[in-house]
Amino acid sequence: MAETVESIRQQVQGLREEATAALAAAGDTPTLRAVQDRFLGRRSGVVSGLLKSLGKLPSEVRRDAGRELNVLKREIEGRLEEARARVEAQAFAARLAGERLDLSLPGRRPPRGRRHPVTVVREELEDIFIAMGYEVYEGREVEDDYHCFEALNMPPDHPARDMQDTFYLEGAEGQRLLRTHTSSSQIRYMLDNEHPPLVRIICPGKVFRRDDDITHSPMFQQVEGLVVGPGITLGDLKGSIEAFLHALFGSQYPVRFRPSFFPYTEPSVEADLGCIVCGGKGCRVCKGTGWVEILGSGMVNPAVFEAVNSRLGGAVYDPEKVTGFAFGIGIERVAMMRHGIDDIRLFYGSDLRFLEQFRG
Ligand code: DAH
Repeated sequence: MAETVESIRQQVQGLREEATAALAAAGDTPTLRAVQDRFLGRRSGVVSGLLKSLGKLPSEVRRDAGRELNVLKREIEGRLEEARARVEAQAFAARLAGERLDLSLPGRRPPRGRRHPVTVVREELEDIFIAMGYEVYEGREVEDDYHCFEALNMPPDHPARDMQDTFYLEGAEGQRLLRTHTSSSQIRYMLDNEHPPLVRIICPGKVFRRDDDITHSPMFQQVEGLVVGPGITLGDLKGSIEAFLHALFGSQYPVRFRPSFFPYTEPSVEADLGCIVCGGKGCRVCKGTGWVEILGSGMVNPAVFEAVNSRLGGAVYDPEKVTGFAFGIGIERVAMMRHGIDDIRLFYGSDLRFLEQFRG
C-alpha cells in the first residue's frame, strides 16, 4: 500500500467528519465512551492504530502524516470534552425537571443530641447541693503533688499513695500529675480563696488513675464536698450526707455509716445505701449484703488545716477554732446503680446505641 501524504490527509479528513458527526449525535455517557474507544481507544482505536503504523511509512511521508494525525487526535479529544460537558448538563437539567418539590412534606428531623448519663447525674448532684446552700467550685485537672497528696496529709512515702495509681507529667514547670481525686480541690479552694472559713462547697470533675476494668476507668468523675466552720460536727456530716442521698435516690433507702480510713479525715466514715436493686434483700449487685458502698467521708483532719495555715502564713483555718467535714462520691457509680449498668466502660465507649437509651 503506497501511502502518500495526500492519501493520509484524505483519511484524516474522513475520520474528522465521522468523529464530529458521532460526537454531535451522542446523547449519553455510554455512547460517548464508545465513540472515544472507536477513535482513540488504545488497543482498537482507529487514530491510535494509524499513529502506531507511522513507523512503517516511508520517512518522507512520516513527518507530515504524524503531524496530521496528532492534530486530529487533539481535535477529537477537545470535541469529546465539549460533548461530555453538554451531556452532563443535559442529564442534570433532566433530573431537575423530573424532580418534584413537595413543600407540604414533613421536614427531616436532624438527630438530636442529649446529655451524657454521667452529666445528668452530675448536674442533679449540683442542683441538690446548690439547694442546700453549697457553692460549686471547679478545681484543676492537672495538679501538683502538694495539692493532690501532701497537703492532704499524704507525705511522699505515705502508703496511702499506693492506692492511687497516678499519671505523672513532666514539664517545664516541674512535675505535674493528673489529679487522682477531687480532694485536691479542697486544698485549692482553701488556699486560693480568702474567705473567712465558713466554707460550703462541692467540686465536681474528672479524676484519673491507671486502672482499667469493668468497674474502673482511667478517667472517671467525682464530686467532692467540703464544709468548714466553727462547731461543725460528725452529726452535721451524717445529717447532710443522709439528706443528699435521700434527695438523690429517694428517702425510702436507708443510709448507714461505717468507720473507715482516709489520711485527710479523722475520724473517717464510709456511707452505704440500702441496695436499690433488691431493696435490701440481697442480690448480685450488693453481693448479698443488702447494702452498697456509696461514698467516703470524714471530719477534716486537723493536719490538713495546719498544712493550709502554714501556706497561708496565718491561722485562717485554725483547728482550735474551726472543724469541718469532707466527702467524695463517684458519679459513674451513682449512674450505674440507678440504671443497673455493670460495666463502667460503657459510659466512655461513645456507642450511640448505649447513649441513646438515656433521657438527657
Ligand atoms: N478521695 C477519696 C477517693 O478518691 C474519696 C474521699 C474520701 C473524699 C473521704 C473525701 C473524704 O473528701 O473525706 O476515693
